[in-house]
Amino acid sequence: MKFNILTLFPEMFKPLEESIIGRATENGKIEINLINIRDFSQDKHKHVDDTPYGGGAGMVIKPDVVYDAYKSVEKPNSKVIYLTPQGKTLNQKKVVELSKEDDIILICGHYEGIDQRVIDKIQPEEISIGDYVLTGGELPAMVLVDSVSRYVDGVLNEESINEESFSNGFLEYPQYTRPEVFEGMKVPEVLLSGNHQNIEKWRKEKALEITKAKRPDLNN
Ligand code: ADE
Repeated sequence: MKFNILTLFPEMFKPLEESIIGRATENGKIEINLINIRDFSQDKHKHVDDTPYGGGAGMVIKPDVVYDAYKSVEKPNSKVIYLTPQGKTLNQKKVVELSKEDDIILICGHYEGIDQRVIDKIQPEEISIGDYVLTGGELPAMVLVDSVSRYVDGVLNEESINEESFSNGFLEYPQYTRPEVFEGMKVPEVLLSGNHQNIEKWRKEKALEITKAKRPDLNN
């Protein structure tokens, strides 16, 4: 799975070099290709933005630089996504769907956004990560890369994927580790019993109980 990320701030993607995603990149399970939109500026000062027609605050990213950056990585099988609060909200179903793609292009806006004409030309799928406004599409792009990569073969072990929150429509059951007693609170007895059938039953019940209490909107 290759992620091509079009951004004015490639340095913001450093966190993806850590932990599970960092390892997945090192092992060649995923590839993260950062494209600096500024490299496609034609003018000598490397300008990428300008004031909005019609007036108003902030700057708008020029259409030509975004289009040239896009053309430099676009392939017939590329899935193109624009991160914007106007998009459909990302959820686990969409994450799983995207994990089946081979090549994803993520377009990150910044400032007041991108000239509408290049969006109309490319017609990317628009995705939001939630109903709040961020300073740019970089954090949303990282959220998408992280959540999608977890479903790419070999990035996680299969059990983690199957047992986690959302994978079966329920939130995850609570987890415990040593010590057996913490601040006077004991680990639930059943988890110490070694009886796997009972443990599984208990976990299912807990998952159901937690989902009902915390996210009754799920699974109905
Ligand atoms: N850009 C700014 N805010 C965003 C959001 N909530 N989701 C996706 N892209 C964004």
